[in-house]
Amino acid sequence: MQNLIEKAIHTHQLNKEELLLLLEDETNLDALLAAANQVRKKYVGDEIHLRGLIEFSNFCKNNCLYCGLRRDNKNLTRYRMDEENIISLAAHAKEMGLKTIVLQSGEDLHFNTERMCRIIKGIKALDLALTLSIGEKTREEYAAYKEAGADRYLIRIETTDKKLYADNNPDMSWEERAECIRNLKSLGYELGSGCLVGLPNQTLSSLADDILFFKETDCDMIGIGPFIPHPDTPLKNAKGKELNLSLKVMALTRLLLPDINIPATTAMETLAPDGQAKALNGGANVIMPNVTLTDFRKLYQLYPGKTTTGYTPDDSLKKVIDKIHALGRTVGSGYGQSPHWLKEQK
Ligand code: 5AD
Ligand code: SF4
Repeated sequence: MQNLIEKAIHTHQLNKEELLLLLEDETNLDALLAAANQVRKKYVGDEIHLRGLIEFSNFCKNNCLYCGLRRDNKNLTRYRMDEENIISLAAHAKEMGLKTIVLQSGEDLHFNTERMCRIIKGIKALDLALTLSIGEKTREEYAAYKEAGADRYLIRIETTDKKLYADNNPDMSWEERAECIRNLKSLGYELGSGCLVGLPNQTLSSLADDILFFKETDCDMIGIGPFIPHPDTPLKNAKGKELNLSLKVMALTRLLLPDINIPATTAMETLAPDGQAKALNGGANVIMPNVTLTDFRKLYQLYPGKTTTGYTPDDSLKKVIDKIHALGRTVGSGYGQSPHWLKEQK
């Protein structure tokens, strides 16, 4: 097993069988995290890049079985921020020292291409890097956002197991989602994807495929999130909460994609007070402090118990910076593009 880890550290290549062996072994978590930490240090350094997350609408036309924003959840008060407030919140994030904003929402048709492009231009006028995380759109829409100034896009494949995807994402298509990912990459976006870990009936074999998919589709960022059951969804009684397995998938992703950006996800922190610290010591190099206004964040409930609920943007940022310093790391000073993407621009 140690030989396989050594091979991954030096070649960044593992085949499906090798990945599966490492995923099945229940004794190698610490060794994998240490190996991923070593590769992270070598390829992306000690800086931790911050992304200010603005959750601007919790309306969603989709019905993913795992997610609290699903359209059939009638227990949720829906909100959308207006264009002006979104832009002024981005300006506040900039005043707090953040250099990248992530605009995230459910798939909300109210924000049509014209509205999105106005918001994108408003934020880009502030000289911030901008990431969108607003779901599946046509190639033309993605091209229009890029033209308006958007730099990056996050869209998780969620799982590469097509049956599992179909079971969990009614009226969505795995092929269309994969097509969105390919479109975003070919349009020149810095591309972020990722998966959920711990869905009912998810296999280790499919998690190995997920990691290989990230490599194949040439992702620049990967977010791995443990699935956390939400009480107002059909998966309320599912087990989920696989923090260690999520950390393992994250570490293996770092080993195979050494020069990408990997966030320590909020879902990891939700499962353990040191969840993000473990991630940052096991391959992660990004944190996304939540800068959504306090009243809205409790309504942006993809899963319950989000640690950022109840805080103000300023509190959230301070907590994150303290955590980074406690780990002996530094806050990134630039826009924090992934070296992987920068290399492709040359
Ligand atoms: N637990 C953890 N992550 C979730 N997401 C949605 N629902 C949950 C849940 N119950 C994740 C999905 C989506 C991202 C925005 O949030 O992976 O892509
Ligand atoms: Fe909507 Fe995304 Fe939640 Fe699915 S995971 S219901 S697309 S917000």
